[in-house]
Amino acid sequence: MATAPVNPPAAALSGMLKEDALKGKTIIITGGGTGLGKAMGAYFLQLGANLVISSRKLDVLQKTAAEMQAQTGGKVLAVACDVRNYEEVERMLHSAIETFGRVDVVVNNAAGNFISPTERLSANAFSSVIDIVLKGSVNCSLAAGKYWIKEGIPGNILNIITTYAFTGSAFVVPSACAKGGVLAMTRSLAVEWGRHGIRCNAIAPGPFPTKGAWDRLLPGDLAEQFSPQKRIPLKRVGAHQELANLAAFLVSDFSAYIHGEAITIDGGEWLQGAGQFSGLEAVTEPMWDMVAMMTKGAKGS
Ligand code: HXC
Ligand code: NAP
Repeated sequence: MATAPVNPPAAALSGMLKEDALKGKTIIITGGGTGLGKAMGAYFLQLGANLVISSRKLDVLQKTAAEMQAQTGGKVLAVACDVRNYEEVERMLHSAIETFGRVDVVVNNAAGNFISPTERLSANAFSSVIDIVLKGSVNCSLAAGKYWIKEGIPGNILNIITTYAFTGSAFVVPSACAKGGVLAMTRSLAVEWGRHGIRCNAIAPGPFPTKGAWDRLLPGDLAEQFSPQKRIPLKRVGAHQELANLAAFLVSDFSAYIHGEAITIDGGEWLQGAGQFSGLEAVTEPMWDMVAMMTKGAKGS
């Protein structure tokens, strides 16, 4: 029986938008020095954007900024900013405006997460994740929204959530609560700030391997034992460029009428978990022959 190819098609690994699609836009990415933030930033730069990357670790940001500038010739501002602190967020926004003249897009990508039975968590452990993910996204959206409304700039917020923002998930409860809150904020602000021309959308990624996520969510042997590929209908994890393509579309004007939407990019993973009969993938062809005989025989019952 044919099975799905485990590698993404070549087109998915190349840039999707036309050259200069983001020219003239200044984009802030929180958590932009590593992982998916770095992948999105590199592609935004390639499409002509001015880029601001921020997180707590300035040395990491500066190294990423230097790499990106060498690759693209674009301009990257690296700013240390803990998104939990509103004053730091305002300072980061001001340095971006000072450097590039204006800010058009904020990508709320910074996150904190780890797996743990909830009853083992201290109140501080719970708060540490909520504060980065929910409060951090609120802080950045609030500071940017106030600025855009005051200046009459049609801003754009892109929130990076997860698919368990829809469903909840055991063993990552602080993250599930926080990402669910960010989804609610996405939809709420879309309605409230639409009249100011401010767009607000979210991306819900499935598994896209990064060091930050894998070290905390699939440490040691867990990566093999709970390999996401096995339960994903498309039988593979996501490639960073696939996410970058979707993000670039959503922060560009090509998606101008998409508003208040959360777009899932997960190879079908969360629906696999939702379908009551999804586990029947394990049934072999000869077993299906038997099942057919038995279920057809049940016609008269
Ligand atoms: C239980 C833990 C813990 C763990 C920390 N704590 N790690 N409790 N299990 N693994 C507790 C600590 O004991 C402390 O509580 C409290 O949490 C705060 O810990 P600190 O280390 O002081 O916090 P801080 O330095 O702010 O670091 C935040 C962090 C850390 C979230 C704990 O992991 C971090 O910096 N993460 C950033 C990057 C990240 O998480 N990337 C992954 C995103 S992936 P006490 O009570 O002792 O003071 C993602 C993917 C989603 O979101 C979907 C995947 C498919
Ligand atoms: P990552 O590399 O660990 O990225 C998280 C980033 O957040 C880091 O750069 C970190 O930098 C920054 N950060 C953490 N706390 C911060 C704070 N208080 N203030 C500012 N920045 C902070 O992990 P990733 O996998 O790329 O995750 C990126 C986003 O994708 C997250 O929103 C995550 O939930 C989402 N996501 C990822 C996956 C996946 O499979 N990888 C799946 C679904 C959703 P510092 O430590 O320097 O602060």
